[in-house]
Amino acid sequence: MKPQNRRRSSNNDLNSKRYEQAVKVFPAGVNSPVRAFKAVGGTPLFIAKGKGPWIWDESGRRYLDFCGSWGALFFGHAPAGLIQALSREIKKGTSFGTATVKEIELASKLRTFFPSMEKLRLVSSGTEAVMSAIRLARGYTGRKKILKIDGGYHGHVDSLLVKAGSGGATFGIPDSAGIPEELARQTLTIPFNDFEALEKVFKNEGEQIAALILEPVPANMGVILPKPGFLEQARKWTQSCGALLIFDEVITGFRIAAGGAQEHFLIRPDMTCLGKILGGGLPIAAFGGKKEIMDQLAPLGPVYQAGTLSGNPVAVAAALWVMEQFQRFKSSVDQLHERAQGFFRELRKEIQDQERPLQLNTAGSMFTLFFTREPVTDYTSAKKSSTEQFARFFHHCLERGIYLAPSQFEANFISTTHSKPLLEQTLEVFLAFCALGEPAPAKKKPAPLK
Ligand SMILES: Cc1ncc(COP(=O)(O)O)c(C=O)c1O
Repeated sequence: MKPQNRRRSSNNDLNSKRYEQAVKVFPAGVNSPVRAFKAVGGTPLFIAKGKGPWIWDESGRRYLDFCGSWGALFFGHAPAGLIQALSREIKKGTSFGTATVKEIELASKLRTFFPSMEKLRLVSSGTEAVMSAIRLARGYTGRKKILKIDGGYHGHVDSLLVKAGSGGATFGIPDSAGIPEELARQTLTIPFNDFEALEKVFKNEGEQIAALILEPVPANMGVILPKPGFLEQARKWTQSCGALLIFDEVITGFRIAAGGAQEHFLIRPDMTCLGKILGGGLPIAAFGGKKEIMDQLAPLGPVYQAGTLSGNPVAVAAALWVMEQFQRFKSSVDQLHERAQGFFRELRKEIQDQERPLQLNTAGSMFTLFFTREPVTDYTSAKKSSTEQFARFFHHCLERGIYLAPSQFEANFISTTHSKPLLEQTLEVFLAFCALGEPAPAKKKPAPLK
């Protein structure tokens, strides 16, 4: 592999120039907040293209991409088969606003991976999937309250942009302006992996809870693993109180196993939300679950939900291609996990002896490095990580041609196109940071990845 980082010197200039233009037309210059690099400082990248594990910015500088469009790109950037499928499909038209046969094909394939989705509906984003699932849970149960996990992210759904106050379950406080407190108060939160809080909230308010929604493996406070039995208890308490269990598998779907975390942990939720990997980078998502719940949706039932572009044929073609990959290459998830776990094993071995306090949390092919001494098991422990150290780590990697998710509280993703040699080089870059003193000394321009 040849270095391709030509025109490096103009890199920052070009990104800065674009950023100056962007801030004039978009708030903070971006169309989604984390892209603005506020959590790490510096100028956000303007990406011109991607191929396999690589992305190139506007100045032609190449980066090994561990953000992967926030976990959407299981098979890397622009796989040839996907591009061909899309080119074929797009010639037939871009949207009809009617039913199409390919949607049925997609639903049938999806159900082979997620049998708990007896019926489903296609939407265009993870947020839409979750928002619809929450409305449906409320409509189906006739209850108002939603229980979520402290630090769990489910898109920018009003009811779910709520975090916990101190201690146990508590009335919600909106995390964002514009959300009426009356609505936020209907959201309860408990810390992840907290068996006592789970029991307490269901004992005290179980009859009022429409649904417990959670990421079975949280990836939005960094990656955090469920303690053995926690998901089982979530299933038990929801069932005994007549609340629905919603697995938000927007990240974990196809990532933890082809059939998501529910396949891996052998837990059948009442409803599931999917997105990201499903569309291979195109805007498509889905929510689904038990037939009797899904049949409450309009026009069969009283819960309204709709979308002009829902089931968009181009996005469906992308999702069909993705499903075919998982069907044809049944072991692709396991193979990727194996490669990723090899990398994680090496990294863990090395960081054990490091001065720097570090925790490596991993699940399947995703990982987060936390800059803290204590194990990270929930949002409180995740927040102990030094975000200042993370920012330096992020820029250390960026300067060496590695693009990580630009925030401490995110997962990083390894795709099927991240080869073993690339992971070995990544390991070196990570370890070079660990070897640096505190604070990291200014160095001359580092060499790019080869
Ligand atoms: C677990 C989870 N649910 C839902 C969403 C929202 O998906 P989208 O950004 O496609 O609206 C995200 C986005 O990151 C997510 O990570």
